[in-house]
Amino acid sequence: MRKKIIAGNYKMNFTVSEAEYFVNNIKERINTDEIDVVICPNFVSLDRISNVLDGTNIKLGAQNVYYEKKGAFTGETAPDMLLSVNCSYCIVGHSERRINFNETDEMVNKKAKILLENSINPIICVGETLEERNNNLMFDVVKKQVEKALENINGEDVANRVVIAYEPIWAIGTGVTATASQAQEMCKYIRDTIGNMYSSKVKDKVRIQYGGSVKPNNAAEILNMEDIDGALVGGASLTEDFVAIVNY
Ligand code: 13P
Repeated sequence: MRKKIIAGNYKMNFTVSEAEYFVNNIKERINTDEIDVVICPNFVSLDRISNVLDGTNIKLGAQNVYYEKKGAFTGETAPDMLLSVNCSYCIVGHSERRINFNETDEMVNKKAKILLENSINPIICVGETLEERNNNLMFDVVKKQVEKALENINGEDVANRVVIAYEPIWAIGTGVTATASQAQEMCKYIRDTIGNMYSSKVKDKVRIQYGGSVKPNNAAEILNMEDIDGALVGGASLTEDFVAIVNY
């Protein structure tokens, strides 16, 4: 039985004090050990939110990382820096980074690998554009993203530590959600792809989230799908809606 994982990606929202106020206000209501709950605030809020989460089961995640250990990389953040503020998860390859910051599959793979080396679990985002879906290319696009992101990562890590987040780009921040069956179809396809790359054991264990306009009114239907093990929540994670989604 795979443990569900629901993560809130705050993206570029909330100052440090706003994030602290918000998380303090909801933390008792999202503190559970039945599922993994992950909060991913902006870098500058990580340390403060780490303190806020102290003594709860809620995990802390970053939204990005650089793939070198240290050095002259102005503006970047190394994995051991994330570890030093108690991050146990880190999002990589979000479509907003792929599109706005030219993040390639190769970079996503390097980031995932260095996170694993530093005891941080990567949440690897994949997903197609609307044009790709309309041209029926979504399976090819997502398969390539998954295969490249996991290159040279061992099955043990994929089974136990990697999380894949299927986020169709056309459903992010648009209010248009993939139907539960569209989300299930792709998450199953991703699971089968991973099964072909590794083994049936890895296929059965790897956790796959859906992300894209997840709200309280669609969360249960999506999260009850067979191959969907959680949600990566953007806009709704900034409001009380996140409490309802975690308690779906
Ligand atoms: P929305 O929930 O706002 O559509 O964002 C999804 C997302 O990109 C999470 O990473």
